[in-house]
Amino acid sequence: MVHDQADSLRRQLEISKHPREAKTISFVSGKGGVGKSNIAVNFSLELCRLGNKVMLIDLDIGMGNVEILLGLHAEKTIVDMLQDNLPIYDIMEVGPNNLSFIAGGSGLANLFSMDEYKMDYFLAQYQSITKEYDYIIFDMGAGATQASIDFVLASDECIVVTTPEPTSITDAYSMIKHIISYNRQVPFYVVLNRADTIKNGLRTVDRFRKVIMQFLDIEIKLLGILPEDKAVSAAVIHQAPFVLGNEKTAITKSIKQLAEKYSNNVVGSTIEANTSFIDRLKDLLRNR
Ligand SMILES: Nc1ncnc2c1ncn2[C@@H]1O[C@H](COP(=O)(O)OP(=O)(O)OP(=O)(O)O)[C@@H](O)[C@H]1O
Ligand SMILES: [Mg+2]
Repeated sequence: MVHDQADSLRRQLEISKHPREAKTISFVSGKGGVGKSNIAVNFSLELCRLGNKVMLIDLDIGMGNVEILLGLHAEKTIVDMLQDNLPIYDIMEVGPNNLSFIAGGSGLANLFSMDEYKMDYFLAQYQSITKEYDYIIFDMGAGATQASIDFVLASDECIVVTTPEPTSITDAYSMIKHIISYNRQVPFYVVLNRADTIKNGLRTVDRFRKVIMQFLDIEIKLLGILPEDKAVSAAVIHQAPFVLGNEKTAITKSIKQLAEKYSNNVVGSTIEANTSFIDRLKDLLRNR
């Protein structure tokens, strides 16, 4: 039928416009030290184990520590790529579970205020890998600098990490308010980390989601509640991600559940955007 043909043609055009670009996820928080990097690292490793191809990019300006958590040493960083016009493949490291990793490097702040030539170079290099991955995950620094916010705004999803402490919760609220002041379309998830019990964690998230709905009029989906667990600092000390250690620790069980739930799309699908991360990032940068 003509109608079916038109439908199928439209679908094909849509597919060829963005053939399987990686989904881009930003990990953010208001307050620092809430567990973003540990969660981003272990979540990424779990997505790999579940059969996905994942790239983790440390975008914590000045204080990136993902390589330490992964027990890797990044020979080169995004800063080197831009200074020496290196291909993006030259700055990639391969970690456990075949996880790809790129370090931001110190002086990364300048990346975000770079000239147009360097920005175009960065975008072209980034674009060259987007079709090779299922997920590209950014570990952002705490808070939002003018420089890094564009990456969050252009992401397909934003995962907000908070602990149950009131200071962490209020900072997470402010962060979300700040992000939506630029763009209300960014789909948000919340991860409550360092919960004493699941029951208390659920209660806290419930209140948080209601406040966000009431005052900011947006929905933030619960991605998961992660327990307080000494295995996290032990893993940091040993520079070996906890999901690769004892399977029976509470934190490992919880993050595995969280990654499975995410990967099976149980938390609910996000908005199907018509544009890609790179299109959105270009728009944001050009309109600065
Ligand atoms: N679930 C947890 N249980 C116990 N301790 C934890 C947990 N999550 C994080 N921590 C502790 O918090 C520390 C900080 O974690 P992490 O570096 O991942 O936070 P961050 O949000 O990335 O910090 P920053 O804002 O500085 O980037 C860890 O080194 C660990 O000691
Ligand atoms: Mg961090």
